[in-house]
Amino acid sequence: MSNYHIKHLEEYYQVYRKSIRNPELFWEEIAEEQFLWRKKWNHVLRWDFSKPEVKWFEGAQLNITENCIDRHLATRGDKTAILFEPNDPSKSAEHITYLQLYHRVNKFANVLKAQGIKKGDRVCIYLPMIPELAISVLACARIGAIHSVVFAGFSATALSTRINDSDCKMVITSDGSYRGAKTIDLKGIVDEALERCPGVKIVLVAKRIHSDIQMKEGRDQWLQQLLDEASDQCIAEVMDAEDPLFILYTSGSTGKPKGMVHSTAGYMVYTAYTFKNVFQYKENDIYWCTADIGWITGHSYIVYGPLANGATTVMFEGVPSYPDFGRFWDIVEKHKVTQFYTAPTAIRALAKQGTELVEKYNLASLKVLGSVGEPINEEAWHWYNDNIGKKNSPIVDTWWQTETGGIMITPIPYVTPTKPTYATLPFIGIQPALMDEHGKELIGNQVDGRLCIKYPWPSMARTIWGNHQRYKDTYFSAYENMYFTGDGALRDEVGYYRITGRVDDVIIVSGHNLGTAPIEDAINEHPAVAESAIVGFPHDVKGSALYGYVTLKDTGESRRHDNLRKEINQIITEHIGPIAKLDKIQFTSGLPKTRSGKIMRRILRKIAHNDTSNLGDTSTLLNPEVVQDIMDNAL
Ligand code: WT7
Repeated sequence: MSNYHIKHLEEYYQVYRKSIRNPELFWEEIAEEQFLWRKKWNHVLRWDFSKPEVKWFEGAQLNITENCIDRHLATRGDKTAILFEPNDPSKSAEHITYLQLYHRVNKFANVLKAQGIKKGDRVCIYLPMIPELAISVLACARIGAIHSVVFAGFSATALSTRINDSDCKMVITSDGSYRGAKTIDLKGIVDEALERCPGVKIVLVAKRIHSDIQMKEGRDQWLQQLLDEASDQCIAEVMDAEDPLFILYTSGSTGKPKGMVHSTAGYMVYTAYTFKNVFQYKENDIYWCTADIGWITGHSYIVYGPLANGATTVMFEGVPSYPDFGRFWDIVEKHKVTQFYTAPTAIRALAKQGTELVEKYNLASLKVLGSVGEPINEEAWHWYNDNIGKKNSPIVDTWWQTETGGIMITPIPYVTPTKPTYATLPFIGIQPALMDEHGKELIGNQVDGRLCIKYPWPSMARTIWGNHQRYKDTYFSAYENMYFTGDGALRDEVGYYRITGRVDDVIIVSGHNLGTAPIEDAINEHPAVAESAIVGFPHDVKGSALYGYVTLKDTGESRRHDNLRKEINQIITEHIGPIAKLDKIQFTSGLPKTRSGKIMRRILRKIAHNDTSNLGDTSTLLNPEVVQDIMDNAL
């Protein structure tokens, strides 16, 4: 019997048990029956978490684009693969069929080749949500180049750091982008970034907003001209199962961003399998994930997972608030969207607008609602369930990470009974563990601990680009023989998981994963700043927002405070991007420190949460007197 499509709860438990009892046999069957291989594997899995080293389907050969495109041509050539909805609602949507996608990806792949890009080369993609973004990702995969997509909201500094970290040879960008009523000068940002990137020899520029931009002689080329001349046939490069498919950066609690490396075969198998089940995708469904392809959600569940299943995947260029807050529902009605996957922060922002703009539209096509990126609070869950799903579409609260490649803990709609704020059960093949602070696993139900994964799954990241030691230190050192997620979680009386949030110095703002250290480093570059510390505090739309405590070199600078606040946020915008701006900035006379000089963030966090009833013992601090001062001046 095929286990590719789970249809009821008993079947889930049965397949889950099978996937745990004999993971290799289980994944081998899934890989065998669903995909196109140039050569089959010698070993399904070899692993050692102490190194750590994980290899899935070793010895197998394939090309992921043959699985996402070519193999569908015979039966789905005229089916829409990508349904592009532009920013401007008066412009018509573009339906790109599987056959058209095949030709466009091949042309693009030939352009890359003609520009000297070869298997294993890194290509940075810095594009808005236009078809060229998905097509360039697939074109890289077609020729075995490693794509590194950088979200087009990142600043020039953040872009240059990412380009240099993985030595990208080429950048693919556009003249600019539309974002609601605004346009953004993407090419200008790239030009600025490349002043610091001597390794980039070629920039391909897509025309989107037709602005007047500078083209640098010998480096910049208009994409369309090259595509026009390219052949629409390109033989796919034969890749090894473990060849890197892409690098995607995620922020860490310290230091520079981590370039998570995902490999080919395992990633393909797992994203395809989770997509099919978590969204219960059926032929002729119209699936829409509102994420940007610049994040892992877009890689796995706009591009690879849906296309590997021959699905129709919607790509939306715009924002939820343009031309008004009814835009999402307008698109759902217009394209008869069946699965809708978004983030809690978007749900909360839309809920704030009331239901008038929801009631205008017919949402009857919806069958499954998804949530991802941060814990979904009870209120948002109910608003989504009542007003969008009309209590008729199950909500899948999907927990996963850039590092995990695919969805890890989630209900399966129409299979797993949902429970507000709970991600519920591990997906097939996933073995979670909750650990206490002494490194012991908490057995049984009704326990609360740190979330780890005990056994490899096919789409896990294999390393951090250029820094395997950091990969080991970050994920495999906290607990022996386990992958540590950085999240806390509880298991309720029936074994359902609820993610309680990060237990490290990562703060999730509007679903974006932000490390505190890089933001503090940026602030500390301001000449007036002595030191700073960032913590999160609850925010009704963003989930968490950032609260910065800043000590100035010259405390007499107080009359300039408002200007300084602006300047600090300006520096953050330049170094990271506007998503990392601080909502609150408090100027302090000092920061509470331990005797070894470590900032006591726990105390700062409590003050930011307005919860100072129990600050714990502050007498052991190096400078206990600053605590009262910070409390008195809290914002
Ligand atoms: C962190 C990973 C996975 C794609 C988007 C974010 C948090 C993610 C949930 C959820 C509670 C969640 C975790 C995780 N998170 N989904 N359903 N419930 N928390 O990817 O940027 O790598 O962030 O997002 O804290 O560790 P990411």
